[in-house]
Amino acid sequence: MCGIIAYKGKENAVQIVMDGLRHLEYRGYDSAGLCVVSKNKTFLIKKTGKVENLLREVKKKQAHDEMLEGEIGIGHSRWATHGSVTEANAHPHFSCDQKIFVVHNGIVENYESLKEELVKKGHRFVSETDTEVIPHLIEEYRKKYSFVISCEKTFNRLDGLFAIVVLDKETGQIIGTRKGSPLVMGIGNQGLFLASDIPAFLDKTNKVIFLDDGDMVHFINNQEYIIRNLISKKTLKKKINIIKWTKEEAEKGKYPHFMIKEIKEIPEVIKKAAWQDKKTLKSVANLIKKSSSVFFVACGTAGHSCLAGQYLFSSLLGRRTGFSVASEFKNFLPALDKKTLLIAVSQSGETIDTLEAVRMAKEKGIKVVSLVNVMGSTLTRISDYVLMINAGPEKCVLATKSYLAQLSLIILILFAVLDKHSEGERELKKISRQIGLLLEDKKFIAQIKQLAKKLSSVDHLFVIGRSYNYPTTLETALKIKEGCYVHAEAFAGGELKHGVIALIEKGTPCIIHLSKSEEEENTLINAMELQSRGAYIIGIGPEKKKDFDFFITVPEVSEIFSLLMNVPPIQLLSYYIALEKGIDPDKPRNLAKSVTVK
Ligand code: M6R
Repeated sequence: MCGIIAYKGKENAVQIVMDGLRHLEYRGYDSAGLCVVSKNKTFLIKKTGKVENLLREVKKKQAHDEMLEGEIGIGHSRWATHGSVTEANAHPHFSCDQKIFVVHNGIVENYESLKEELVKKGHRFVSETDTEVIPHLIEEYRKKYSFVISCEKTFNRLDGLFAIVVLDKETGQIIGTRKGSPLVMGIGNQGLFLASDIPAFLDKTNKVIFLDDGDMVHFINNQEYIIRNLISKKTLKKKINIIKWTKEEAEKGKYPHFMIKEIKEIPEVIKKAAWQDKKTLKSVANLIKKSSSVFFVACGTAGHSCLAGQYLFSSLLGRRTGFSVASEFKNFLPALDKKTLLIAVSQSGETIDTLEAVRMAKEKGIKVVSLVNVMGSTLTRISDYVLMINAGPEKCVLATKSYLAQLSLIILILFAVLDKHSEGERELKKISRQIGLLLEDKKFIAQIKQLAKKLSSVDHLFVIGRSYNYPTTLETALKIKEGCYVHAEAFAGGELKHGVIALIEKGTPCIIHLSKSEEEENTLINAMELQSRGAYIIGIGPEKKKDFDFFITVPEVSEIFSLLMNVPPIQLLSYYIALEKGIDPDKPRNLAKSVTVK
């Protein structure tokens, strides 16, 4: 949550910071701000709302002041934690003398006591944020120490998880650090970058250094930097990684929204998820075979792919398999022994609850395999084994392609445990082609749009499915809630008569997920029970059923692969309902792509 970008180099920092913020906006869009310093001037501009508001303000100022440029700059897109959404609370925050500017992602837990101490020393605060203590504390140390030592002393006094970048106007230097929140460094030909995520500077460089917790990086000039770890007190020479993501992957291109672009990428993403190093996959399969049980953890959509994993591993491998959303994991930890294998799934690799679950498991000596999309993310560095889902940058706040990639990889692991790796690869290729054709089918898209129109005025809907379709119902409900602000609830078909059916009234829309399986008949009975109580029943499945009020037909696949096949229709439905309602599908209200605070 919150996006940070910083630059020191020969190019115009205003442009670089603005471009970076555009790429980081998915991390928070309550407000945005930047501070750029040129030889003799400082520009501090903040705006509430989306980055485009800031961009408009920058352009306005540029029209009046053609010198709005600089060699060093920092920027921030905010997801509010402490303090409401106001310009005063927007970052960058600054010291009393307006020489120290700070952008921050995370929470300074002990900010109240620090603020009290600083107020007593005469510091004036202008925001309600926790962040503002940082520039003031640096300013206080600055009375006695250099900029570098002042930053170091300040960072050492902060409790909580954070990524911070500090700009010192006087020396023209930039210092960044991280503890628990993401911060990566980019090395360009013309200058140096710091950002919460690689796409923020990917159009300038693909040379990246992944910073670890406690690392403090100091940009000495446009090319030189020093990285020191504040915990080990050692100066480090860190590996420069070359990132394979292309800048086109991180752009919308011809599409109006990232959401639709990312849904359209699903066929390719399924194929890429199957591109796994055979040796690593085999090691993971062996770990599963040797384990006493497998336990999945994740949050949100990634949690639904874990639930699907639990269904698959239990029913098809006959293994004891558990799942918990990461925030509830500690309740299950006492029941896990050292021979349990933990599988953590995360698109970003930075979700705080997932990281905490992994750390707790590791402390107990449990081995962790993680399935992650973002290379170099914290999860990739704290896990024993890592399999990349290879979905490419996902910018829409709603997870779409990453869900299909996670499911594909889980299915591939299942096949590997069954010693049928090549069959798994073949099947994934086949379904990737089938989904590709479906997404190109004009009739199918027209049908989804028609349904979206119909559902755009409803307040509630229910989603029902059984067996492997149950995780799909949960994901459907999540996509409808977060994407279109429609209250949607998911139920296993068998639960209907245990209470839920009392909510059905004339016209209540109910989405029924179907697949060719032994549960199909029971699900159809549930659908009829709903219809006879007035529900408007919408089917998604391989064979059109005449009694349904609306039916979306998808290609017939085996039950396992219906986990993939039934999902794109509901993602598209969420997208088109959002458009019908005038909601920006890439940035739904109150959300941020990566949940890095508790
Ligand atoms: O980056 P992660 O996969 O760990 O993120 C997990 C959830 O925060 C994420 O899936 C969230 O639920 C999305 N809003 C779903 O669309």
